[in-house]
Amino acid sequence: MKMIIKNISKIVQVGIGDKKFIESKNLDKINTIDDGYIEIEGSKIKDYGSMKNWKGISDWNNTEIIDAEGGCVFPSFCDSHSHLVFSEPRHKEFVLRIKGHSYEEIAKQGGGILNSADSLEKISENELYEISLKRLNNVIKYGTGAIEIKSGYGLSLSSEMKILRVIKRLKKNTEVKIKSTLLAAHAIPKKYFGKKQDYVKLILEKIIPAVCDENLADYIDVFCEKNYFDTYDTDKILKCGIKYGLKPKIHVNQFNSLGGIETAIKNNAISVDHLEVINDQDIDNLKNSNTIATLLPSCSFFLNMPYAKAKKLISNNIKINIASDYNPGSSPSGNMNFVSSLACIKLKLTPNQVINATTINGAHAMEISDNYGSIDIGKKANIFITKRISSYDYLHYSFTENIIKSIILNGKIV
Ligand code: NIG
Ligand code: FE
Repeated sequence: MKMIIKNISKIVQVGIGDKKFIESKNLDKINTIDDGYIEIEGSKIKDYGSMKNWKGISDWNNTEIIDAEGGCVFPSFCDSHSHLVFSEPRHKEFVLRIKGHSYEEIAKQGGGILNSADSLEKISENELYEISLKRLNNVIKYGTGAIEIKSGYGLSLSSEMKILRVIKRLKKNTEVKIKSTLLAAHAIPKKYFGKKQDYVKLILEKIIPAVCDENLADYIDVFCEKNYFDTYDTDKILKCGIKYGLKPKIHVNQFNSLGGIETAIKNNAISVDHLEVINDQDIDNLKNSNTIATLLPSCSFFLNMPYAKAKKLISNNIKINIASDYNPGSSPSGNMNFVSSLACIKLKLTPNQVINATTINGAHAMEISDNYGSIDIGKKANIFITKRISSYDYLHYSFTENIIKSIILNGKIV
């Protein structure tokens, strides 16, 4: 099956070649082509260029023609951090926070992640799959074409496996590219209060081996934070994950800087995620590493907390990408259009910087930038077509408006 998209006013984020990510010093540069066409064959991009150079095709059999009607074409968003497989929303806690209770206070009283773990234990795997599929289809509508999904609301062997099996089914049954992460170390479950090391032991000796035995995860994650897991626990869990073939991507520096960034880098973490709190030592460590920083502005927005210092990271040429953190407690939305607007408004990044951070660099944070994150020959045809807009930065400006008209994933209209 072939597809020709014509009458594209601008192809955005095109022709970056085999670059795996965009360095921060070049983050403000985007390649575009005016009045363009894109040819797709099977699941991949076969050709692109300006309409005036289009040679046409010799064999029109099995060819679908799509008129973009003057809209722009973007590569799909690559959202490198989400927790969209959860059981119930947590709007009661939202109301409590409005009334003045802090996120940390609610967590200490057994709310937060533990609340989500309680409801996840009760739901069947099939039901969890159905509600998660709905959430996934919803984020696809907002332009996401690749996404990482974590466990972490299980906190027991059976419930962590339940989440990861659901993620595996989502991988199999949808066109979106999915990477999965084991985050058993998301919180200390109630029955292990005062016995954290016993839970760490369960993760090391039971959960990681069982998950890897069924090949259910690509990455290992830990919430490295006060009252959760310290750098000592983090190091042990990451090393065990690595032994089983899982690469680290960790939650760190959300509320406190405990040295977790250094621990992550020493374990060759692919990414360090959150970074709302950061000190000079952390910056120095990141500057001299291959690890990419994942910033999550919708989490700061929803919790009404400080935003990561994106400009400081960029001025130190530290690699960044921007993701949704879609989860029931701190970011109950996976809308990457909105995340993109927030990144401009709150992180003070330009639309070009945000495009790089949400496409090719997001793909890099999931190690899939060979095939995703830009419009290049041979890459997967994961793109969206917008309605006619006067300029591509209208996407960032028009927050909450969905300007996406059609979506193509794996070369298919979805
Ligand atoms: O990335 N910080 C830890 N984990 C999630 C939130 C978890 C929750 O509140 O359910 C996050 O923000
Ligand atoms: Fe998260």
